[in-house]
Amino acid sequence: MKAFSFQRKHVIGAACVATVMLFAAIAGCAPEQAPQTDAAPAEATDATAEGTMAGYAEMFPLQYASLQQERTDENGIVKGHSIGQLRDICEAPLARDQNGDVLLGENGTVTASGYAYDEELGMYVLPEQTDEQLKETGLYSGCVACKSSKFNDIYAQQGASAFGSVYNKQAREIVNGEYFDCAMCHDGMPSADNLKANLVYFNALGDDFAANLVPKLAVCAQCHNSYDYRSRITTEADLENFRPYRYGTDLESVFKASYEDGVNFAKDEETGISTSYMVHPIIEIFQTSPMANLGVTCVDCHMPKTTDAESGTTYTNHFAANNPLENEDSLEYCLTCHKNQGIETTADMKAYAEQKADELARGYEELTAQAETFKAALEEAIKTKSKDEATLDKARELYAKASWYDHCINTQPSVISVGHMASMVDGSALVEAGEKACSEGMALIA
Ligand code: HEC
Ligand code: HEC
Ligand code: HEC
Ligand code: HEC
Repeated sequence: MKAFSFQRKHVIGAACVATVMLFAAIAGCAPEQAPQTDAAPAEATDATAEGTMAGYAEMFPLQYASLQQERTDENGIVKGHSIGQLRDICEAPLARDQNGDVLLGENGTVTASGYAYDEELGMYVLPEQTDEQLKETGLYSGCVACKSSKFNDIYAQQGASAFGSVYNKQAREIVNGEYFDCAMCHDGMPSADNLKANLVYFNALGDDFAANLVPKLAVCAQCHNSYDYRSRITTEADLENFRPYRYGTDLESVFKASYEDGVNFAKDEETGISTSYMVHPIIEIFQTSPMANLGVTCVDCHMPKTTDAESGTTYTNHFAANNPLENEDSLEYCLTCHKNQGIETTADMKAYAEQKADELARGYEELTAQAETFKAALEEAIKTKSKDEATLDKARELYAKASWYDHCINTQPSVISVGHMASMVDGSALVEAGEKACSEGMALIA
C-alpha cells in the first residue's frame, strides 16, 4: 500500500466504485445490514424508514431529487450536496488537515493512501481502516459536524471530544449514510414553515449570530462560515470558551478574534509572520453586501422556486450547490432588481455577473501582489531589526490582515476560480480593505 497522487475528479469516481464494491462484500457476511450505495435510496417500506432520507425521498420526490443533483465546474471538478459527494468528502482515505478537510495540491490533486489492488476484482478497493490509520489521514468526526445532523447524535454520545475523535465504523454507523439530511434545515416533517439551522456546531460557537439570522440565511450559514475551530475543540470548556464572534460578525471583527486566538493562520516560526488560510467566510461577507441590506437571502438566489414540467407542481429547487448563473429561474429572480440597471435578459444578467467576477479577479491579483511585496519588506525589516519589536508586531498584524482579506476573495485553495464571490459581495470593498492594510504596514516599516 503506497500513497500516490492523482486528480480529485478521478479519485472521487474511483472511490465511489470501490465503496460500493466494499459494501457489497460486507453485506455478504452481514445480510441484515443493507448495503449503502450512491444510487437512489432503498424503498421506504417499513416504519424504520420514517424520518430517514429514504422515507422522505418517497414523500417528497421533487425536493429529494433536486437535492441529489451535481454539476461539473469549469475545472472538471464535481460539485454538489449529494449523499455520494459528501460521503466521499468524509469517508475517502485521502490526506486531510486537522479538520478532516481533504488536502488539495496544485490543480486539485489529492493524496490517497490505503487503497489495495485486488487481483481478482481487477481494481483498487478500500480496506476498513484502523483507528490509527484514520488518525494518520486526519479523518475525524469533526468533519461530519457540518455534513449531517447525525453529528448531533455523535456529540450527544461523546460530548465535545467528538470533534477530534476518529470517524470510525461506530461513528459511521450513527451517520448511516444520512449526509446532507433534511433534519439539518427542517425541524420535523419537512415543510416551508419549519426552516431552522439545526447543526449543534454552528449554534454552539455562533452565539447569537445563528439565532439572529433569518432562517433563509441561517440554514446555509451553519456550514458556509469562516470559523475553523473544529480541530481545537476537545473539551466542553473549549466549546464554551472559543467565541469567534465576540467582537462582532463582520470580517474585521472576526479577523481580530481569529488573530488573537491563532486560529485560521499559519505562523512561520522563524519570522513570526502569520498568513491566513481561512476558508469560505460566505455568511460573514454576504451579510454586509448591498443585496443583503435589501433582504436578499442565500435561498432566494440558490434555491429558486421552480415548476416540475411533468406534474406542473411548483416547489423549491433543493440543488442549493448550483451556480445561479446556470439556472434560468435564478437569473429571472436577479432581473426583478437588475432590470433597473437596464439589464433586460437572463443572458445579459449572466454576462454582467461574469464581468464583475473578472473585475474582482483582477482586484485579487493586485492585492496578492501588494501583499507579497509587503511580506518581503517585512521579512527584511525583521531580519535587519530595522524597527523596534512593537512596531514589527504591528506590521505583522497588518500583514496578517492583508492576507485575511486576500483569502476572503479566494476562499478555497486552487480549485475555485477567483472572482466567483462577485455576485455576493461588495468586491471592491474587500480589495480596498486588504490594500489599506498593506499600505499602512509598508508605511510602518519604511
Ligand atoms: C451541512 C453543511 C452545508 C450546508 C447546510 C450547506 N452547504 Fe453548501 N456546501 C457544503 C459542502 C461541504 C460543499 C462542498 C461540496 C463539494 O465539494 O462538492 C458545499 C458546496 C456548495 C456550493 C458549491 C460551491 C463550490 O463551488 O464548491 C454552493 C453554491 C453551496 N454549497 C451553496 C449552499 C447554499 C446556498 C446553502 C443553503 C441553502 C448551503 N450550501 C448549505 C456544505 C453545506
Ligand atoms: C440546506 C437546507 C435544506 C435542506 C437540507 C432541506 N431543505 Fe427543504 N427547504 C429548504 C428551504 C430553504 C425551503 C423553502 C422554504 C420557503 O419557501 O420559505 C424548503 C422547503 C421544503 C418543502 C416545502 C415545499 C417546497 O418545495 O417549497 C419541502 C416539502 C421540503 N423542503 C422537503 C425537504 C426534504 C424532503 C429534504 C431532505 C431530502 C429537505 N427539504 C432538505 C431548505 C432545505
Ligand atoms: C444575489 C444572489 C446570491 C446570494 C444572495 C447568494 N449567492 Fe452564492 N452565488 C451566487 C452566484 C451568482 C454564484 C456563482 C458566481 C460565479 O460563478 O461567478 C454564487 C456562488 C456561491 C458559492 C461558490 C463560491 C465560489 O467561490 O465558487 C457558494 C459556496 C455560495 N454561492 C454560497 C452562498 C451562501 C452560503 C449564501 C448566503 C450566505 C449565498 N451564496 C448568497 C449568487 C448568490
Ligand atoms: C432585491 C434586489 C436584487 C436582487 C434580487 C439581485 N440583486 Fe444584485 N444587486 C442589487 C443591488 C442594489 C446591488 C448594488 C448595486 C451597485 O452597487 O451598483 C447589486 C449588485 C450586484 C452585483 C455587483 C457587485 C459588485 O461587486 O459591484 C452583482 C454581480 C449582482 N448584483 C448579481 C446578482 C445576481 C447574479 C442576482 C441573482 C442571482 C442578483 N444580483 C439579484 C440588487 C439585487
